[in-house]
Amino acid sequence: MAPKVAVVTGANKGIGFQIVRDLCKRFEGDVILTSRDDSRGKTAVETLKKEGLDPKYHQLDINDHSSVVRLRDFLQSTYGGLDVLVNNAGILYESELFSQICSETLEIVPPFGEVAKNTCQVNFFANLDVCEVLFPILRPHSRVCNMSSGAGKKALGETSKAWTDRLLSADIDIEELKDIVHTYSGTR
Ligand SMILES: NC(=O)c1ccc[n+]([C@@H]2O[C@H](COP(=O)([O-])OP(=O)(O)OC[C@H]3O[C@@H](n4cnc5c(N)ncnc54)[C@H](OP(=O)(O)O)[C@@H]3O)[C@@H](O)[C@H]2O)c1
Repeated sequence: MAPKVAVVTGANKGIGFQIVRDLCKRFEGDVILTSRDDSRGKTAVETLKKEGLDPKYHQLDINDHSSVVRLRDFLQSTYGGLDVLVNNAGILYESELFSQICSETLEIVPPFGEVAKNTCQVNFFANLDVCEVLFPILRPHSRVCNMSSGAGKKALGETSKAWTDRLLSADIDIEELKDIVHTYSGTR
């Protein structure tokens, strides 16, 4: 029988890298470190191997549909499915952070439209694509972990009541949610 398998996206550094390290110690099965850049990912794998751990590697750029499909096909043919998915990959414009801390750096902040479009593309639409492609191969009793941010709650507090009500309504479906994010990010 094929071993169980866990996949962590955006795992060449940061929180994703640490999740792979921890899963390698606790998960009874193969742990796949994925990264959009092959060499950064393989360097991360080597670091963990030097610690006596045994992560596997597969390339995954969540913003590239064909890359997501390649990972799905690999998982299906090698493991016959997927047991754990950690949706960790995401981007944050550093200048956005700096602007909150130092108002004098405001001039280096890209236009809001550009920040909104690129951030929503990766953090929402690309992560959604990963779910849509990989969910069909999840095995019964599998687990999915979606990384979130306190910034989401903070942003809701700064949004009009009408939008907040729509976003938090119990009957919102994925098509309506996509529509809202398209409208916000100017991607349609
Ligand atoms: N750190 C925090 O305080 C904090 C707080 C709230 C939420 N989060 C969330 O937690 C997650 C990890 O945060 P972090 O602090 O560890 O961030 P990080 O150090 O910047 O790591 C982000 C990871 O995502 C990868 N990534 C970016 N775009 C990708 C793409 N298109 N395809 C595949 N991988 C991609 C990056 O790869 P490259 O190295 O190639 O860029 C990197 O490996 C993110 O989703 C972030 O929004 C973090």
